[in-house]
Amino acid sequence: MIGILELKTKKERQEIITMITAYDYYAAKLVEKAGIDIILVGDSLGMVIKGNKNTLGVSIEDIVYHTKAVRKGAGDTFIIADLPYMSFHVNIEETKKNSAKLIVEGGADAVKLEGGSPSRIDMIKGIVDCEIPAVGHLGLTPQSIHKFGGYKVQAKQEKEAERLIKQAIEIEKAGAFMLVLEAIPEKLAKQVTDELKIITIGIGAGRYTDGQVLVYNDLFGLSDYQPKFAKQYIDLADIITKNLMKYAQDVRDKKFPEKEHIYYPLTDTE
Ligand code: KIV
Repeated sequence: MIGILELKTKKERQEIITMITAYDYYAAKLVEKAGIDIILVGDSLGMVIKGNKNTLGVSIEDIVYHTKAVRKGAGDTFIIADLPYMSFHVNIEETKKNSAKLIVEGGADAVKLEGGSPSRIDMIKGIVDCEIPAVGHLGLTPQSIHKFGGYKVQAKQEKEAERLIKQAIEIEKAGAFMLVLEAIPEKLAKQVTDELKIITIGIGAGRYTDGQVLVYNDLFGLSDYQPKFAKQYIDLADIITKNLMKYAQDVRDKKFPEKEHIYYPLTDTE
C-alpha cells in the first residue's frame, strides 16, 4: 500500500496523485484494481448513497459502516475517511474519539475535516496528537452550505483568497499532511500548492494541485447533479436503466429464466 511517505515522495517528484471517493465493497475493489492511489470515503455519500439534498445528515456511524466495506474491497489502498457534520465541532475530546472510530473500527488510514477557523485548527492538532494522520479541506466546504447559500465557487475576491492562504498555512502548521481544495480559482489553488510543503488535492481547483479527486458517482453518471468540474466518463445510469427494462420485459415475456439459469429443469425440451 502507498503510505504517507510515498505520497510525499510523489509530490517531491511532481508525480500526480490520484484519488476518488468510494462507499462500498465492490466499487472499492475496482478502484484498487485500477491502481488509484487513494480512496476517500466522503460524506458526499449523504447525496449519492442516502439520497439527501446535502451532506449534513451523515453520521459518524454512516462513515464507519461505509469505510468498513471499502476497506474489505481495497485492502491495499490508502483510505481517508471524512469526519461528518457535528462529529468534530463540539470539542477536541469528541473529535479525537470520532477520529479514532474511523481508524480503529472503520479501518481508515487518515481522517479529513472541513474548515480553517482557529477552532478547526485546534481539532487538527488534537487529531495529530493522537497519531492520526489528518487532512484539511478548504474552499467550497459542503458542510457550510447554509453559510455559502449554495454550491458556489469560493475565494474569488482577493480578501477571501488571502484568508484561504492563511488558513492553509495554519492547517499545515497544525500537522495535517494533505489539504483538499474545492471549487476555487485555479490561480489560488496554484498559489496554495506553491506555498505549502504538504500535499494539495484539487476538486474543481484547476490543474496545478498535487493531485485530483472526484466523486465516484459523478464519473459514471450516477448522481443527480453534475458539477462543472466533474468529468462524466460514461452514462451508466442510461445503460443500467435500459438493461433493467430489458430484464423486466424478459420476465414478462417468460424469456427469463432460460435453461442455463435453472436447477434441475422439469423438461429438456423447453
Ligand atoms: O465528501 C466528499 O466526497 C468530499 C470530496 C468532494 C472532496 O469531501
